[in-house]
Amino acid sequence: MVSFGSAVVHPARTVRGRLRVPGDKSIAHRLAMLAALAGGRSAIRQYAPGADCRSTLGCLAALGVAIERGGDAVTIIGRGSFPFRSPAGPLDAGNSGTTTRLLAGILAAEPLAVTLTGDASLSRRPMRRVIDPLTRMGARIDSTGGCLPMTIAGAPLRAIDHRTDVPSAQVKSAVLLAGLRASGTTRLTESHQTRNHTELALRRFGAAVGVDGTTVSVRGGQRLEPIEASVPGDFSSAAFWLVAAAALPGSDILVEDVGLNPTRTALLGVLERAGARVDVQVEADAETEPRGTVRVRHGGSAPLVVAPGEVPGLIDELPALAALAALGGGMTVTGAGELRVKESDRISALAAGLRALGASVDEYPDGFHVSGGRRLAGGAADACGDHRLAMACAIAALGAAGDTTILGAGAVDVSYPGFFAALDSVAR
Ligand code: S3P
Repeated sequence: MVSFGSAVVHPARTVRGRLRVPGDKSIAHRLAMLAALAGGRSAIRQYAPGADCRSTLGCLAALGVAIERGGDAVTIIGRGSFPFRSPAGPLDAGNSGTTTRLLAGILAAEPLAVTLTGDASLSRRPMRRVIDPLTRMGARIDSTGGCLPMTIAGAPLRAIDHRTDVPSAQVKSAVLLAGLRASGTTRLTESHQTRNHTELALRRFGAAVGVDGTTVSVRGGQRLEPIEASVPGDFSSAAFWLVAAAALPGSDILVEDVGLNPTRTALLGVLERAGARVDVQVEADAETEPRGTVRVRHGGSAPLVVAPGEVPGLIDELPALAALAALGGGMTVTGAGELRVKESDRISALAAGLRALGASVDEYPDGFHVSGGRRLAGGAADACGDHRLAMACAIAALGAAGDTTILGAGAVDVSYPGFFAALDSVAR
């Protein structure tokens, strides 16, 4: 559990400025893992600096992948058709669900038995969602009641048709990564489209991926070619500044070189519904990830309703949106039970954090309601070891009447080292 240190956030009248955010966590994990499978040297610039993406590099290095780091650039010498090396001990994925679940898909096809472990938070998170399909493909997986530690004994895999019960890009990616090295064509159908970074990244590395509605397919036995890439800024990190701008009158925030993949940006439509003025400039490139500039200016504070179908497109932005709701017109969210199995139980932890600042929040099994129209007082909010909780409470604190202490503020290091310095630079 990442829970060190505390930070004090002072009230601000407004937020203003132009900034960049660290590289996208989801994209960086995928580029690193696919680079490790490719035959040759890949160079990744603007690699995500947070602890989660360091965990991925640490696991790959322990599997014998040669990795060189210089500043925010990472060079990875892929193993190609050579198997990974048997690691000296368990692989520690830290706080990172994406490291664990995607790596499980890769390890399922390796002739090794590898144990994956993680911190206290990750050790509580459900793994059956990847264990079941990977076992059907032929891997042998022993877990601890469906959680970590989990030992994966890879095997020659066979393709499957899989339908996900919960919309999850991590599950989709684990199955696709295993499918890449299975015999036959693996197909996966999801009830709602989730982020498609794995599909885009596979194509970038030269693999063919079929997409038909919400069914994705990959033929086994395809070779990956090394690439040179740069990771766009993380939209989910930018979300905190966009939400702050939407919340505080007079605000104007511009985030440059941020990822704008449409499977990630549903937040922007919700900000417009709240009354914000949103301008987006996309530098589109069909072969790679869309990226560009987003500007958000305050424009109102209408009450919000987030419907279940919208949730997969803004699952990681719901904590930030809850902060906006607490400072503005309130919000009702349903169909978001997945929040309970994130880095914390994000429904309970968000409710507790926002209540500590003076908000009124009702919890539902699959969502929450934040009442609008209340002035927050400030107080002491516990991040509960969850990076997005720490940042959401910090944004809510900007609009409070008094100071707020974020307990366990160091959790931001998981995705956004430097978050509090950026907060100081935009808060007025
Ligand atoms: C992620 C997918 C989402 C998201 C997580 C990152 C990814 O999780 O919440 O932060 O990189 O694939 P689920 O796949 O569990 O929904």
